[in-house]
Amino acid sequence: MIFNDLTALIKRRKTTYASDFTDEVISKEIIERIVANALWAPTHKLTQPWRFIVLGGNHKQELGCFMAEYYRKKYTEEEFSNERYEETKTYTENATLLGLVFQPSQRAQLPEWEEIAAISSAVQNMWLSCTALNIGSYWDTSEATMKYTERIALKENEKFLGIFLMGYPKENIQLGNRRRKPLSKKLTWEN
Ligand SMILES: Cc1cc2nc3c(=O)[nH]c(=O)nc-3n(C[C@H](O)[C@H](O)[C@H](O)COP(=O)(O)O)c2cc1C
Repeated sequence: MIFNDLTALIKRRKTTYASDFTDEVISKEIIERIVANALWAPTHKLTQPWRFIVLGGNHKQELGCFMAEYYRKKYTEEEFSNERYEETKTYTENATLLGLVFQPSQRAQLPEWEEIAAISSAVQNMWLSCTALNIGSYWDTSEATMKYTERIALKENEKFLGIFLMGYPKENIQLGNRRRKPLSKKLTWEN
């Protein structure tokens, strides 16, 4: 039964965009429960190469405005309309923003890909936890967001791997049905 429940949860997890979040605030206790589950991800040599920052204060307003300006500069008016610009300005207002900070271990000297694989598992733990709590979420690594994170001071060997956006979803939103390729294309058996 646990396997079936887990499979259902994995399939229910979906990228849910901030424009689909209500203004209901996620409590500190719930955020802590979600991040606590991240900490249980596997890591080679137990490096735990991460830390997370809740970006409060003005960040919710500023990130949306930054995105709007960024894409206005990057795209033509046709590609990024004025309507889109105005919508983008308030895009992150309802989102809880969790900065994903990569902290590769200096002690363990692992290949970077192993450490990134580990933090990715931590993000998946949070994504699934959000799904179980009926919270919408997604991992944002867009150009504008990555650029925005440059303004937040980190320690010397740290780097941002994007922002994890969370929020309570509006009712009856259309979630993308991003289909997966069949198992037969992705699993082979070699003797
Ligand atoms: C490392 C990583 C970075 C991602 N960055 C973005 C992003 O910047 N913008 C975005 O819209 N989705 C982003 N996504 C979400 C993917 O687009 C999404 O997971 C994929 O389309 C499958 O959809 P699903 O999550 O609903 O199953 C990212 C996912 C991963 C794993």
